[in-house]
Amino acid sequence: MEDQNDLVRYGDETKVRIVVGKKAGCCFGVQRALDIAQNTRKERTGTVATVGPLIHNPRKVAELSADGVEVINDPANITDGTVIVRSHGAGPQLFKTANERGIAVVDATCPFVRLEQELAVALKNEGYTVVVVGDRDHAEVRAVTEWLDNDAWVVSPAQVLELPWKKMGNRIGVVSQTTQSVDGLNRVVASILPHCREIKVHNTICLATVQRQEEVRELAREAQVLVVIGGRDSANTRRLAEIGQEQGVETHLIESTEELRPEWFENISTVAVTAGASTPVDQINEVVRWIECL
Ligand code: F3S
Repeated sequence: MEDQNDLVRYGDETKVRIVVGKKAGCCFGVQRALDIAQNTRKERTGTVATVGPLIHNPRKVAELSADGVEVINDPANITDGTVIVRSHGAGPQLFKTANERGIAVVDATCPFVRLEQELAVALKNEGYTVVVVGDRDHAEVRAVTEWLDNDAWVVSPAQVLELPWKKMGNRIGVVSQTTQSVDGLNRVVASILPHCREIKVHNTICLATVQRQEEVRELAREAQVLVVIGGRDSANTRRLAEIGQEQGVETHLIESTEELRPEWFENISTVAVTAGASTPVDQINEVVRWIECL
């Protein structure tokens, strides 16, 4: 997967050395969704809307809205024009509703999310009880379970011991939300294994997630303070901040420069900056410039 960013290390001329993660910022799937939304707006007349925010970045979503890509919360509100399926995907009901109402659909589902959906459906068709490792309230997880007619167990690594083993049968198939950690997926699989005769696991964690999580561990070793930029609703952004905290570095998750505080950078030599997969490079550069100006 190509990196979308060309970030450099800043530093010697500033009071605090600033290390910017080379993997920080928009992943392939988010950039693709943004390009699709912008091109759709240019090419189509009438309403262009997404059901829920296109990506988990409030500022970028507001910019899109100003450009004419609306956010609606309920598919029942679709009355005309074009609906864009966001990077997290959508369940079959959205496609059905749009089709019934003659609404055009442009699918910006990340291909890695689409693969997760297809593998989950294949597991179900092969007779496995499907377990989705992830956050049950996340749009991606809701979409994948909808493709399974909600016939799946959704579990986070922290909740795995609560699964009702006796109801789950002897053949269990596992997929993961694309932004989970490999450690978490491992924990779930190890917990399931003693309770069944057969387990089939698709590691659907995407490479962009793995790379960012590995990089943030390295950044945490180099710095006294870690700044993670991204939406608070963004699962992968929150996970980066959690990893920073687990590594023992003082970690701050921010959505914009307004939240930065000068005192965070007092008496330190190095600050590391990273960003979730929905954070465009201009938002990262703004944060870097703010710290440079201290
Ligand atoms: Fe897709 Fe991975 Fe980004 S699943 S949306 S490339 S974090």
